[in-house]
Amino acid sequence: MTAFLILGATGSVGSRLARRLIDNDCNVFLAARNAERLQALASELCCPSAHVDASDPGSFVKCFEEAAGTLGEIAGAANCIGSLLLKPAHTTTDDEFHATINTNLFSAFATARAAGQTMKRNGGSVVLVSSAAARIGLPNHEAIAAAKAGIEGLTVAAAASYAGRGIRFNAVAPGLTRSQMTRHIWEKKTAAEASVRMHALGRLGEPDDVAAMIHWLLSNESSWITGQVFGVDGGLSSVLGRTSMAR
Ligand SMILES: NC(=O)c1ccc[n+]([C@@H]2O[C@H](COP(=O)([O-])OP(=O)(O)OC[C@H]3O[C@@H](n4cnc5c(N)ncnc54)[C@H](OP(=O)(O)O)[C@@H]3O)[C@@H](O)[C@H]2O)c1
Repeated sequence: MTAFLILGATGSVGSRLARRLIDNDCNVFLAARNAERLQALASELCCPSAHVDASDPGSFVKCFEEAAGTLGEIAGAANCIGSLLLKPAHTTTDDEFHATINTNLFSAFATARAAGQTMKRNGGSVVLVSSAAARIGLPNHEAIAAAKAGIEGLTVAAAASYAGRGIRFNAVAPGLTRSQMTRHIWEKKTAAEASVRMHALGRLGEPDDVAAMIHWLLSNESSWITGQVFGVDGGLSSVLGRTSMAR
């Protein structure tokens, strides 16, 4: 069975991806920060697991090694770790900025580096997660937009470095998706309605919308695709919102 590593596996997107891969007869190695949530998910899905934390650089390569040691050579990895800071630059502290960069950009870099160090024989697919905020100016997104734009640069550079080894690097860039991270937005009626209006397709994303694209990018169906960033965003980054309805 094909084996994949999911970092940030306990998150809304990460756990949807795990279920999708398992439903498609893949082996999955789960990696996440919160030990209790990881243990619960690993028991429920009967998957091997390990601890990963963006503030512990060595934990990434350990996860890749343990995944390969447990399941055999992995065919790919997805980094679903992330956070959301909604503040304009002038109220963002140094600590908040660095934490945002660490959780989002550094975790993606550590994933790419660990893939380069460990996926040496058969190539594979690595998927990173950016955000629509990297491509369209959204107010109060300066730190997270900077971190996610960095992930898009990382994606194309790593795609170039590792193409010769058959490792593909792609990213997905979600719009507002109904996950744990954004619960404080979509649970409030007025904030949810305003957010929906920004997405031309007239709804917020579901974790499975994002997981489906990651799944496809991990699979051989996308074997001729590398160095790309795919908006999974209901049109947020490229299409005017619901203010401009067709008649
Ligand atoms: N939801 C959206 O609207 C949206 C939009 C654009 C991009 N994204 C991106 O989509 C990806 C998936 O997020 P999600 O929507 O599924 O949110 P989520 O449910 O909140 O999942 C985020 C995951 O990141 C993990 N995490 C946070 N800080 C970490 C750290 N320092 N070290 C290791 N793990 C850490 C969390 O683990 P713990 O359980 O330990 O906290 C959690 O598993 C993220 O990259 C996010 O930035 C989401």
